[in-house]
Amino acid sequence: MEENRIYIFDTTLRDGEQAPGYSMNLDEKVRMALQLEALGVDVLEAGFAIASEGDFSSVQAIAAILKETAVASLSRALKKDIDAAWQAVKGAKRPRIHTFLATSDLHLQYKLKMSRSQALMQATEMVRYARNLCGEVEFSAEDATRTDLDFLCEVVEAVIDAGASVVNLPDTVGYALPEDMKRMVGTVMKRVANIDRAIIAVHCHNDLGLAVANSLAGLKAGARQIEGTLCGIGERAGNAAIEEVAMAIRTRSDELPFTYALKTEEITKSARLLGQITGIKANPSKAIVGANAFAHESGIHQHGMMANSLTYEIMTPESVGVMTTSFVLGKHSGMHAFEKRLVELGYTLTKEEVKSLFAEFKNLADRKKTVGDRDLIALVESTTQTSPVVWELDNFVVNSGNLMTSTACVTLRKGDKKYQEVARGTGPVYASLRAVEKIIRHPFSLEDYTLQAVTEHRDALGEVFVKISDGHGIYRGRGVSTDVIEASILSCLAAVNRMLDEASLSRSGSVKPTSAPNFANDMLSSHSDKKKEAIDG
Ligand code: KIV
Ligand code: ZN
Repeated sequence: MEENRIYIFDTTLRDGEQAPGYSMNLDEKVRMALQLEALGVDVLEAGFAIASEGDFSSVQAIAAILKETAVASLSRALKKDIDAAWQAVKGAKRPRIHTFLATSDLHLQYKLKMSRSQALMQATEMVRYARNLCGEVEFSAEDATRTDLDFLCEVVEAVIDAGASVVNLPDTVGYALPEDMKRMVGTVMKRVANIDRAIIAVHCHNDLGLAVANSLAGLKAGARQIEGTLCGIGERAGNAAIEEVAMAIRTRSDELPFTYALKTEEITKSARLLGQITGIKANPSKAIVGANAFAHESGIHQHGMMANSLTYEIMTPESVGVMTTSFVLGKHSGMHAFEKRLVELGYTLTKEEVKSLFAEFKNLADRKKTVGDRDLIALVESTTQTSPVVWELDNFVVNSGNLMTSTACVTLRKGDKKYQEVARGTGPVYASLRAVEKIIRHPFSLEDYTLQAVTEHRDALGEVFVKISDGHGIYRGRGVSTDVIEASILSCLAAVNRMLDEASLSRSGSVKPTSAPNFANDMLSSHSDKKKEAIDG
């Protein structure tokens, strides 16, 4: 094993997905997993197999599809969890069981009601049990940074003896400072007699904004696996952002002389896919992947950049896959130029998808003089859907003004039939969404709505993200159009199609609804008994 090679363990689909608003369905998790493999993560934690049928199926599907990356499932240190994890990952090229038990007195006393010696025994027995099933076993000492160091060393040595090839020392509650990480990892490296038979990992949460600094401190002290998520998503304040760790190492190799398999040029594409799937974009000033991460606004900076980019740029946009040359297409551009640009922007689309996007692009080019990269990205991201399309927008008319109640008449298509409803509301968006709700006859409440312009100009595309809830789950949707009402209806329909897809899956017993029904009493409209009318067919 090369001494300075570090391993990147990605838990975007497990610890990351636990964060509110980030849950993904099976197709989305598979798409994300394929991109994480293209990014070059060494291990991908695909879920917590015993947590739900949905989790189990996604871990299993990801295990079956990844070609090189190790696929892990989390499990408590319990036989039934380990069995489920094994059943889910065993089809992987490189399966890994990741089992954990808390080791801090606080967790042992109040959460597990267990003594240290009981915990030591359970951890050891369960690692041995897992190792009899799977060649790669990782053990995590939950809340390691608040665990008595002597006891931690004892646990690490025992689980290595029992067969763990990776021992993770998580900063579960994001409490540690870099000095603490250094002391903890340094002590374990020095005191544990069989340390040469395992890799030490660090898994840092960001409650004090120190997750990346702590991960780097852990590496400096001898850890060789870091665990984190794309864009730092995760429980509470999130996990260490893997792109930040990777770029810190690439940029400061003088202080951090580590190597890894991550292809940093795939970072932007990966972060974009995460945003596209979850509907949550990175904060504009987020390091590495924020929209402003490579923007130079002030005159002094721009002047310096023109003279020599090193004045204000510590890493190039290209090194993280940001395209610096922009390209403009118009209504006379052909399919070939359009497809070529999509490939340059990093999208891998089927012929069918390109064809349907091209029609959307022509539509847009008719309304907008020039179509730039940001327009194309918005178009791709709003139209590449992962759920089957049940309802589509046919047309709408709104009547609105500051002195009147808004009215919307919306016509939707389902198969070859059209359905129309009229609804009123305090504004044209509200009225339109109520009309949609009346047509689909599945009540939902609007949980979140954001509208932003994709570019600066007056003819800019408006991009709308919505979250809706039917009391069983929260469903996201995104829509773009030069008309903000149209963008709103499109985003709502994207969410509605997901909602209906999930509803039919849970009726057929394939997926259990995961979120609690907490918004049930605030539907957009109470359901009328009026039969919806099929028009035109
Ligand atoms: O933060 C944590 O301790 C975890 C473990 C389950 C690895 O996520
Ligand atoms: Zn965690």
